[in-house]
Amino acid sequence: MTDASGQIRLASAHQQVVASVGGVGGSGIVASENLSPGQDSVSKMGVSPPPSKTPAKRSPKDYIFGKAIGEGSFSTVYLAKYIHSGKEFAIKVCDKRHIIREKKTEYIKREKEVLNLLASVPRLTAPFFVKLDCTFQDSNRLYFVLSYAKNGELLHHIEKVGSLDVPCTQFYSAEVLHALEHLHSLGIIHRDLKPENILLNEDMHILITDFGSAKILSPDDEKEVEAECSDDVDTDSSNGVDEENGAARRARKRRNSFVGTAQYVSPELLTDKPVSRCSDLWALGCLIYQMVAGLPPFRSRSEYQIFQKILKLEYEYPDGFSPVAKDLVEKLLVIDSKQRLGSKDDLTGEHGGYHSIRSHPFYEGTNFDTLHCSSPPKMYPFLPKTSEHGEMRSDYSVPDNLEPGLDDRQLTRLLGLDLQDATPVATVPVATSPPPVTPVKKKSTAGIVSGRTGIGELLWGLPKETVEDVEARRRRKMEAQLCEAKWHPFVEGKLIVKQGLLDKRKGLFARRRMFMLTLGPHLFYVDPVAMVLKGEIPWSQELKVEPKNFKIFFVHTPNRTYYLEDPEGYALEWCQAIQDMWTYTYGILPPVNSDMSSNPSSSGAS
Ligand code: ADE
Repeated sequence: MTDASGQIRLASAHQQVVASVGGVGGSGIVASENLSPGQDSVSKMGVSPPPSKTPAKRSPKDYIFGKAIGEGSFSTVYLAKYIHSGKEFAIKVCDKRHIIREKKTEYIKREKEVLNLLASVPRLTAPFFVKLDCTFQDSNRLYFVLSYAKNGELLHHIEKVGSLDVPCTQFYSAEVLHALEHLHSLGIIHRDLKPENILLNEDMHILITDFGSAKILSPDDEKEVEAECSDDVDTDSSNGVDEENGAARRARKRRNSFVGTAQYVSPELLTDKPVSRCSDLWALGCLIYQMVAGLPPFRSRSEYQIFQKILKLEYEYPDGFSPVAKDLVEKLLVIDSKQRLGSKDDLTGEHGGYHSIRSHPFYEGTNFDTLHCSSPPKMYPFLPKTSEHGEMRSDYSVPDNLEPGLDDRQLTRLLGLDLQDATPVATVPVATSPPPVTPVKKKSTAGIVSGRTGIGELLWGLPKETVEDVEARRRRKMEAQLCEAKWHPFVEGKLIVKQGLLDKRKGLFARRRMFMLTLGPHLFYVDPVAMVLKGEIPWSQELKVEPKNFKIFFVHTPNRTYYLEDPEGYALEWCQAIQDMWTYTYGILPPVNSDMSSNPSSSGAS
């Protein structure tokens, strides 16, 4: 390729980008260099220009740009305030050169085309899409001014609470289904539906975003899809493993041009079959699975292995998965797209919709037409029910008439052992020395085990032990653990105050990890088989522990609740050690009543 031809290509690509960000609705798009000086000074003064018939010309100077709230491969989304009204928007800023270099002009054009289509044909009962307010550009960048989804990504919320309970899953998946009915009735396939692209507005209703991978079906495409759907020969189900490997290989070959997200991609997208609306129904199946279980159904270290699992329909339902949700997911995660629930539904006309999905028992009692004006169910931190234990909800929003702290009285209350004890509330301890490496304090959770009245033994069936027995056992255990030098490399030389194997639960999945509480403070966790540091629970003054019983406790952080299970039954000791560390670090008792279960911040969990 010569320089000259390269330049020509570059020039035409640049024209494409500039053209693609043309007008939207009545807002008007004008390059900032077109702004008159008068307008510019009006913007600077923050004074609204007099109303005129022609739409106001926008430029970056009409907005105060705040923090970055999203990052794409060639764009950054900023929270911004329109200076003339104070209204908040999310502005997607795309670098023109980067778009040209990465050959993403089609992506930009498609995104704008879909957003314009959605704005021009709104459906009152399905306002479930980010709205494009206007677009404009300057010499280097394109700007998409979008409605601001104050509560961030659905993914963040699923990760914060671990998994959603059935009412939440019903509600949010019903909103997604209703949104898809509208999108598909307009001939638009999203093709990258995933919890990162489902945002939540101020009222916790969904706003689907990111239409860059979307396909707008042309009449020819529609015909191809129809022909494919009326094809009676089921070629998919006769495929053998060799064929699957071939398809996975082809998919791997195309990996560089692969646009969706591996975990949610449908088998037909991997096997070069014509794309249809059913691809989004597959993604809906993955999404419902993830809401219930906490993780997507097809998981692996590499994209290639994920593709292979998808093509072989290789996934499992963990213990505790709601049977009615399982039935629905099974009917959506069907390799042959023609056999997928909803594939034969008619979306056209006033009464069109995915009626076969709507009428599945999972949605019993759901009124799809009033979802947008109903109050979404609250997402609570909870541990879903498994065959081992019942569902556990968080008592996180504690009533403010209760005493602060986590001494044995509070632990007893949290365990549901209401002793009606009139002992005075402990005064605020002053932290002057490090928390005990070998706990020796009389005021410890051991008090619960032996119990002032033996109630711990009665309720929990534990053998009676004296405080001294418990402390001696604990000391022996701590000493043995401290001897295990093999863990020290993971804690960067910090003193380990407590360590032990805990099952870290995420939704319905559990992984055993070696947890180490160190000075700093830090709460590191290591994969004990691979001997790899997997992460740490981020400490802050907002960190709180919540014991549920002798095995299970929750650690709440602003961005996530960690569900931990001590198979040996020392959950209360973990809580005490973490609480001691908290008191030592912050020197005060933890605040009560800061309800972190609602409206979490939009930053990602660690
Ligand atoms: N991240 C990406 N787009 C967003 C939007 N419209 N609102 C909030 N966060 C976002």
